[in-house]
Amino acid sequence: MQIIRSICLILNILGLGQRALAIDLDVSSQDSISNAANIATYAMMTYYTGNDTGGIPGAFPTKWWEGSALLMALLNYWHFVGDDYYNEELSVALQWQSGTNGDYMPANYSSFLGNDDQMFWGLAAMTAVEYKLPDRATGFSWLSLAQGVFNTQKARWDTTMCDGGLRWQIYSYEGSGYYMKNAVSNGGFFQLAARLYRYTNDTEYLTWAKKSYEWSCSVPLVNNATWTISDSTNGQEDCANGDATQWSYNYGIYMGGCAYLYNITQDEYWLECTTGLMDTLFSEFFTEANNYIIEDFECEPKEICNDNEILFKGLVVSWLANTALLIPSLYDGILAKLQASAEGAAKSCTGYDNNTCGVRWYTETWDGWIGMEEEISASNVFSVQMLQWMNGSSDAAPVTSTTGGNSTSDPNAGQNEDNTTESSATIVSTADKAGAGILTVLFIGGIVGMATFMVMG
Ligand SMILES: *[C@@H]1O[C@H](CO)[C@@H](O)[C@H](O)[C@H]1NC(C)=O
Ligand SMILES: *[C@@H]1O[C@H](CO)[C@@H](O)[C@H](O)[C@H]1NC(C)=O
Ligand SMILES: *[C@@H]1O[C@H](CO)[C@@H](O)[C@H](O)[C@H]1NC(C)=O
Ligand SMILES: *[C@@H]1O[C@H](CO)[C@@H](O)[C@H](O)[C@H]1NC(C)=O
Ligand SMILES: *[C@@H]1O[C@H](CO)[C@@H](O)[C@H](O)[C@H]1NC(C)=O
Ligand SMILES: *[C@@H]1O[C@H](CO)[C@@H](O)[C@H](O)[C@H]1NC(C)=O
Ligand SMILES: *[C@@H]1O[C@H](CO)[C@@H](O)[C@H](O)[C@H]1NC(C)=O
Ligand SMILES: *[C@@H]1O[C@H](CO)[C@@H](O)[C@H](O)[C@H]1NC(C)=O
Ligand SMILES: *[C@@H]1O[C@H](CO)[C@@H](O)[C@H](O)[C@H]1NC(C)=O
Repeated sequence: MQIIRSICLILNILGLGQRALAIDLDVSSQDSISNAANIATYAMMTYYTGNDTGGIPGAFPTKWWEGSALLMALLNYWHFVGDDYYNEELSVALQWQSGTNGDYMPANYSSFLGNDDQMFWGLAAMTAVEYKLPDRATGFSWLSLAQGVFNTQKARWDTTMCDGGLRWQIYSYEGSGYYMKNAVSNGGFFQLAARLYRYTNDTEYLTWAKKSYEWSCSVPLVNNATWTISDSTNGQEDCANGDATQWSYNYGIYMGGCAYLYNITQDEYWLECTTGLMDTLFSEFFTEANNYIIEDFECEPKEICNDNEILFKGLVVSWLANTALLIPSLYDGILAKLQASAEGAAKSCTGYDNNTCGVRWYTETWDGWIGMEEEISASNVFSVQMLQWMNGSSDAAPVTSTTGGNSTSDPNAGQNEDNTTESSATIVSTADKAGAGILTVLFIGGIVGMATFMVMG
């Protein structure tokens, strides 16, 4: 198996495999799925320069959070397909971006992050824990990194607007986002807390998972009667209204958290929340009109998806796959949607005669788009097809500390932050508005410098 994969990879590198054809995906064949996942993952990695001489592991300076999306796709590729070819560079990158405090607030980026950016790296570390990626000999353990993100975000829980929740942006100089409370930041904190609870059995995480979920239901983010999710709500208007823009990942992120909690608590409350959100996800984003192929309909029909938005459905399919493993009764329904989506995605991968995948998966052909984000989402949807051979296997579902996980715990991780970023932020925002402009210029200068550095490297 390993040898076959290596040969496939070499053929793909030489451009001899599947050339000029669509990815010919047979969702009932393990070899076919491996091949498809291998092609998309290889294409995805052509955008990654972190392992090149002079490259910075895990760094995408203008879109830092996307590094975590790429690493999560590599984790899924390894976990589901079983190919560890990229594991060393994955592991190096996941460690490199952790920051000196072990909480994914690395100094190069920390002044300009949102809670959601940091949270996605926390989820990547948590995924490494649950898939048993070995901790590195030096640096932070994957579990402590997830705990570090949890601890820093818990400390940012904000009761000054709408009685709770996380803001979207962390610092006031980051603009109006500082006054928004958005679904993915709060849903991400919820999911991270849920997964930490399931993994560690430490009830502090359960307390926070419940608290963030209940708060989300108390404002117009999660509607637990209609099972609809708004993208954000404005704290300066006391969270009276929700921005009803519909994104698949908002559903997926809360649904995933509920699924982990149901698995470990067996409390029907969390099953209801899982199925409620999953049903809306299915009816709105995997429509019959599209042959049940996932679509982010706010941007795909008009072809106006930005890089972030192209990544959403790749995240969703991986959360759905893990939900199927955590709640076996949902397996059949989820598998059907994942298979339809993968078959659609495969037909989109006919670009440039080299299997470049497009954004839209329901058009039965390549739509002319090309990018790392397209390949990340395709990699995910192909990899998770291996779910079929994992159903019912206790080793396949995300592990816990008592079912094979051995990443080192540090419940106090991330609490030694020197808080200098925060204090300088306060000075800038309160005393000197021009200061923020200067910081921005420095930041842009930093990006240009970094880009030059990378080109020269
Ligand atoms: C496919 O071809 C396009 C256009 O030449 C190129 O930009 C892209 O890097 C190629 N993809 C792979 C995986 O080689
Ligand atoms: C990453 O870089 C190391 C060191 O140069 C090299 O040994 C390894 O093969 C590279 N990994 C990949 C997947 O290219
Ligand atoms: C921060 O930037 C410096 C200079 O480019 C680089 O050496 C370092 O690896 C970067 N750190 C991270 C975490 O990206
Ligand atoms: C943890 O488990 C992994 C394999 O799952 C193994 O490689 C590693 O050595 C283990 N670490 C410890 C500290 O036991
Ligand atoms: C989890 O903690 C509870 C007490 O809070 C205990 O009864 C239970 O046995 C623990 N479960 C595991 C798997 O350690
Ligand atoms: C829905 O959420 C609200 C606010 O948290 C709560 O009061 C209510 O009990 C929830 N309903 C159900 C059915 O859980
Ligand atoms: C939780 O997940 C495990 C797989 O790790 C599965 O065997 C078990 O049945 C699940 N529990 C529930 C209540 O669905
Ligand atoms: C997977 O597990 C579920 C629940 O046990 C079952 O309904 C389903 O038929 C299984 N599918 C396969 C292919 O084994
Ligand atoms: C930084 O702030 C956090 C949250 O307010 C606090 O828990 C921590 O003790 C502070 N760290 C230092 C070194 O003061």
